[in-house]
Amino acid sequence: MTVRPATAADLPFLGPLEDSGDRQFAELFGGLDWPPADSGAERAAVPGFLLVATDGAQVVGFAHVLDLAGHWHLEQLSVEPGHQGRGHGGALLEAAVAGVRERGGAEVTLMTYADVPWNGPFYRRRGFVEIEAPARLAPMLATEERMGLARHGRRTAMVRPTR
Ligand SMILES: CC(C)(COP(=O)(O)OP(=O)(O)OC[C@H]1O[C@@H](n2cnc3c(N)ncnc32)[C@H](O)[C@@H]1OP(=O)(O)O)[C@@H](O)C(=O)NCCC(=O)NCCS
Repeated sequence: MTVRPATAADLPFLGPLEDSGDRQFAELFGGLDWPPADSGAERAAVPGFLLVATDGAQVVGFAHVLDLAGHWHLEQLSVEPGHQGRGHGGALLEAAVAGVRERGGAEVTLMTYADVPWNGPFYRRRGFVEIEAPARLAPMLATEERMGLARHGRRTAMVRPTR
């Protein structure tokens, strides 16, 4: 298992990989009308950094951390369903937090489903705590509202210090 910065060659894999994770939510929530995931190229075009997890030559997961003017937000963490439960998600998360620390960030925020087993509980076991969403997350909250995410369960913001 390896976690490394994403290269240009990795980017085409990221959108389909995230879509495969969304199918897990569709099974839990009973059908979803979420739009296709952002492409890797779209993700690479905004300030922040992208990490991938690989199994041999195959990209099996990624983490995308946004740089919100010096505040860092884990915008996506996704592992291909067939490769889950083997530590890739945890390894990506630790590498993302380390990446923020190396860039001088004091904490990492994220938005997630509080009670979906592989969301809130997964992050709580890894040091994240629930907070009121800070004002800088207003664009993310607007996207959540537009997509109707809260129809399927309680959404929460979480934060973890990097030290
Ligand atoms: C969240 C995610 C990245 C974790 O990836 P992963 O490679 O399975 O992560 P790990 O193997 O390191 O750990 C999996 C953890 O999730 C838990 N988990 C996964 N599926 C579960 C399920 N159906 N029920 C209960 N727990 C589950 C495991 O028990 C394990 O927790 P633990 O190690 O603390 O005991 C992956 O589930 C995923 O991509 N999900 C779809 C996208 C998503 O929800 N992303 C996060 C959005 S905020």
